[in-house]
Amino acid sequence: MPDQPPRSPAIECLLSIHSREITPQGGENVYRFLELAGRIQSAPAGKREPGQPASCAIGFAPSILCLECVCHPIAAMKTTLSFSPASQVETECLAVVVLDRAEKDKTEAFVSASDQDVRQAAAELISSGDVGGKIFEVSWLHKPAGLKAKRLLLVGGGKAKDFSAAELRKIAGAAVRALKPRNLRSLAFAVPLEIAAEAAVRAIVEGALVGDFDSDTYRSDRKNQSVDSLSVVASGDREKLQRALDEARVVGESQNFTRELVNEPSNRMTPTILAKRAREMSKEVGLKCEVYGADKIQELKMGAFWGVAQGSDEPPALIVMRYEPKDAPEKPVLGLVGKGVTFDTGGISIKPADGMEKMKYDMAGGATMIGVMRAIAQLQPKVRVVGIVCATENMPSGKAQKPGDIQTAMSGKTIEIINTDAEGRLVLADGLCYARQLGCTHLVDAATLTGAVVVALGYANVGVFSNDDNMYEAFARAIREAGEKMWRLPLDDEYKEQIKSQIADIMNTGGRWGGAVTAAMFLKEFAEDTPWIHLDIAGTAWMEDNKPWIAKGPSGIAVRSLVEFAREMAST
Ligand code: BES
Ligand code: MN
Ligand code: ZN
Repeated sequence: MPDQPPRSPAIECLLSIHSREITPQGGENVYRFLELAGRIQSAPAGKREPGQPASCAIGFAPSILCLECVCHPIAAMKTTLSFSPASQVETECLAVVVLDRAEKDKTEAFVSASDQDVRQAAAELISSGDVGGKIFEVSWLHKPAGLKAKRLLLVGGGKAKDFSAAELRKIAGAAVRALKPRNLRSLAFAVPLEIAAEAAVRAIVEGALVGDFDSDTYRSDRKNQSVDSLSVVASGDREKLQRALDEARVVGESQNFTRELVNEPSNRMTPTILAKRAREMSKEVGLKCEVYGADKIQELKMGAFWGVAQGSDEPPALIVMRYEPKDAPEKPVLGLVGKGVTFDTGGISIKPADGMEKMKYDMAGGATMIGVMRAIAQLQPKVRVVGIVCATENMPSGKAQKPGDIQTAMSGKTIEIINTDAEGRLVLADGLCYARQLGCTHLVDAATLTGAVVVALGYANVGVFSNDDNMYEAFARAIREAGEKMWRLPLDDEYKEQIKSQIADIMNTGGRWGGAVTAAMFLKEFAEDTPWIHLDIAGTAWMEDNKPWIAKGPSGIAVRSLVEFAREMAST
């Protein structure tokens, strides 16, 4: 996106537009936005920084009148490479990594930088013992002797022998998060010696972008604390490093795009709005995007998806994004299917009130796939990819499905609904079937599917399931490369007993034990013989606390691994 020239608030007001639209339900959507040189500016104007770029124009639930459209920008961080010696870089802040090369309980810290002057500037602080290289420990040096930088930021990277690109990514995020509250706007980050330059550039750019994102979007007193320029200080093949930087930027921004979608509350992120955002994104990056409503969902005989959607006044959306590069072979075709439940009340099997507000993030799997498609469209790997998001609310109402109901899925399988709160697997059942019908040869789904995966793995690991060891091995490589944490769980036939129904082919819940596994077993029935991976991101899509490298709120987990997986599929 080109930078927008700053505009005065007066001009912004002149360009303020209201538009109204009558929905098929007889409701009314009200949009208010400010048009700025072809870009949509966030509103209300007084609460946003003038000139802040944004990229959406969204509608609202038919039941809500006169709500303002607030659009949130993707981090507009400028990223560049610098090939000067780190000591010669003029910047508000130069960040370097400090590692500890001693064994276990001992400490022997050193600055990981090739530039002798940088090491010298930090020498006293290091030898004093005040800086030990503990991971995420930050120390500031003002007016460092012999450096052009105004400040030197020492960021701990932990034990040198355990240091990898995954740590570096987080450390870059931690550096950005150390700058933000100090209102520092630019950062130079020196590539440490332990990591190959290309991998280091990627990790630093991705980590910095992820670290820059904050989720406090609706605070009236919110200050824009974004770091607006990052310079990565490196040496090596300029062309290769520039490509690494550009690609990492696409990946980091796409992860943040996903987080932005997940962060929205359900009154501002209905299935219709999610579809609009997917459509706008697709237009921007050149993807084909189709959005289908209730009619098409019923026409396709998606009885499982419709069973969930029928209970809500808010119309569902079946979002299909296609990436079809001309120079890619006919096969493989990767199908990415996301759970897009924009709010999960549980339906008639209603959830307890305590913590229910968090169920706005039940569309994180769908948002993941939208972010992944965005990155793929820009990185242009030679492989076909189809993204499918099944978006709906799960509501109790006079039209809602009830426990005991039988639904016939698109595949023809009959499902006994035991618990209407096990709705994610229902929408995905038809999403997976549809992906197969569209010709996908490999499937991945992502979903905030079960509380049970949180019991099993906590908040640290995504639960991964697969019916195909080869596909899993390839995906495991992508996970490592992306620096995300996932743990494989079993799908043995024994578990199938738990979801057998007396009256139908299958039940939508499998009892108390192994809940994450029985949910995956349910999906397996719909992946059939297509190689498939299921990601249960219920414990990982939302950060419960602020971390040094990432804000509390949506994490954007799995975006990087999936992008990497698609790229690997293209190169083999
Ligand atoms: N969306 C929830 C799963 C969830 C739980 C996501 C916690 C994020 C955090 C899902 O639709 C659900 O309600 N699952 C039920 C299934 C049960 C009824 C078999 C669950 O896990 O309790
Ligand atoms: Mn549920
Ligand atoms: Zn759910």
